[in-house]
Amino acid sequence: MHQPLQIAPSILSADFLNLERDIHLIEAGAPEWLHIDVMDGHFVPNLTIGPPFVRALKRITAIPLDVHLMIRNPAEQLDWYLSAGADLITVHIETTGDAEKTVALLARIRSAGAQVGLSLNPETSACSLQPYLNLLDLVLVMSVHPGFGGQSFIAAAVDKVAAIVDFCREVGASPLIEVDGGINTQTAPLVVAAGADVLVAGNAIFGEPNPVQALQAIRSAAQTAQSAQTAQSAQRA
Ligand code: DX5
Ligand code: ZN
Repeated sequence: MHQPLQIAPSILSADFLNLERDIHLIEAGAPEWLHIDVMDGHFVPNLTIGPPFVRALKRITAIPLDVHLMIRNPAEQLDWYLSAGADLITVHIETTGDAEKTVALLARIRSAGAQVGLSLNPETSACSLQPYLNLLDLVLVMSVHPGFGGQSFIAAAVDKVAAIVDFCREVGASPLIEVDGGINTQTAPLVVAAGADVLVAGNAIFGEPNPVQALQAIRSAAQTAQSAQTAQSAQRA
């Protein structure tokens, strides 16, 4: 059974010098999340924003903040993002250390009152998330190599979403499945048909002349795919 579809515009492709304007503009599209890409120049080659910036964003919008930490040592910096007002924090499985450390890190996010996300890079196997599925509110599947907006969608992400949905079913877990990278009106239906619930889109929203219309177009393409999938499963049952 699908959860209602959610859209998370990524501010990475917004106009940083007019970010407040762009965020207020996109509020009209009623996005469920605002996706914030934190990059440290180590785990990924690019460098973006830090905790003071997240704190400032929290002051100007009521859209829940979906903070995607692409940083080498999240254990060191996690508390800064929690106190800055992140509503959901996603860390990368490639950065969390062994199983004991990973479980402890996820527990720290939850005990601070934020939702808990775990992400994996395109080259990381879906199996690596299996031990943690019951501890998560969200799994973030990277459909590009993290670091930059505007890249092309990696099609293998579709099968990875399907595999994660199966693993979740096996263990009775139901985290949201979010997909990030190269999402647009063409690719959104593919990942939604595989079971994705939350779509991150940067370039396909803020790179368009009318970002609200672009958001609505992605939502509508994705909802059509979701309804078709629901109808298909009902027929099979
Ligand atoms: C990439 C980031 C993405 C990025 C997506 O490392 O995690 O959130 O903003 O951008 P698009 O939608 O342009 O691929
Ligand atoms: Zn992201």
